[in-house]
Amino acid sequence: PRKIIIDTDPGQDDAIALLLALASPEIEVLGLSVVAGNVPLQLTTINARKICELAGRPDLPIYAGAEVPLMRTLVTAEHVHGKNGLDGPDLPDPQMPLQTGHAVDYLIDTLMQEDVGAITLCALGPLTNLALALRKEPKIAPRIREIILMGGAFSEGGNITPSAEFNFYVDPHAAKIVFGAGVPLVMMPLDVTHQALTSDAALESIAAPRTAVAVAAHALLNYHDRFDAQKYGGEGAPLHDPCVIAYLVNPALFSGRQCNVEIETESSLTQGMSVVDWWSVTGREKNAMVMRSIDRDGFFSLLTERLGRYL
Ligand code: BDR
Ligand code: CA
Repeated sequence: PRKIIIDTDPGQDDAIALLLALASPEIEVLGLSVVAGNVPLQLTTINARKICELAGRPDLPIYAGAEVPLMRTLVTAEHVHGKNGLDGPDLPDPQMPLQTGHAVDYLIDTLMQEDVGAITLCALGPLTNLALALRKEPKIAPRIREIILMGGAFSEGGNITPSAEFNFYVDPHAAKIVFGAGVPLVMMPLDVTHQALTSDAALESIAAPRTAVAVAAHALLNYHDRFDAQKYGGEGAPLHDPCVIAYLVNPALFSGRQCNVEIETESSLTQGMSVVDWWSVTGREKNAMVMRSIDRDGFFSLLTERLGRYL
């Protein structure tokens, strides 16, 4: 299996991504680094532990990371995710511990200890932890196999401002560091995730096994739908973060191309915008595989099948 560390700010869609990852034998989740984003760090660290316990993985190491973005003040998204960030299901307060030590040091130490190219980083939130790690120990860059991240938008426009996607908007300076690090990158922008819309039928299939995970996943998705349902002209809401994990399990579900991507950090109007050179109109170096489409049915059957593996 492919070794990954998941950097996350749960979030209902982060939670579904974690459940998908922990049910997939193709990948081995070494641990989680948690960041502030959808809600403050105090809550994202609780939410990450709730989900690991739900998945039957109280043994998984979870580290708290950055409380605030590199330069900007933290912007959160309670209007989408509820006041706890994980509103919807009724999950008990977690018993499992947070590890001592900072998530940034966990990322650095693990990458330095494991073989070169052994570890893939999956980023589901603002990129603050990854940027801090790359800045503190630049030697990790050539050791990372790949960074697969949810963030950005190009032809689709933004979801927090007209031009910026939430994760990049929250910490554009961090995103800029990550895109400039010379690490192989795969970017799942809104252009893809807005095609991964839930449907009533998908929600029913996910709920059908009636296990604790099925019931909680259904409640998470139902809550998630509440905010977005009308917005995208369909029945459901976009499952952003699970696209990252689905890509690891079955990359053939996605298509895209290698592009240059730069992140805007200056302009007040377009801060956090990902400028994707889809048509190669600049001579700038291609630094990311930018995904643009997804096989929606294939994605939902994978998700349903994997969540159905929990007993
Ligand atoms: C991203 O922002 C968060 O609200 C979601 O968890 C996802 O990572 C989508 O813009
Ligand atoms: Ca997220």
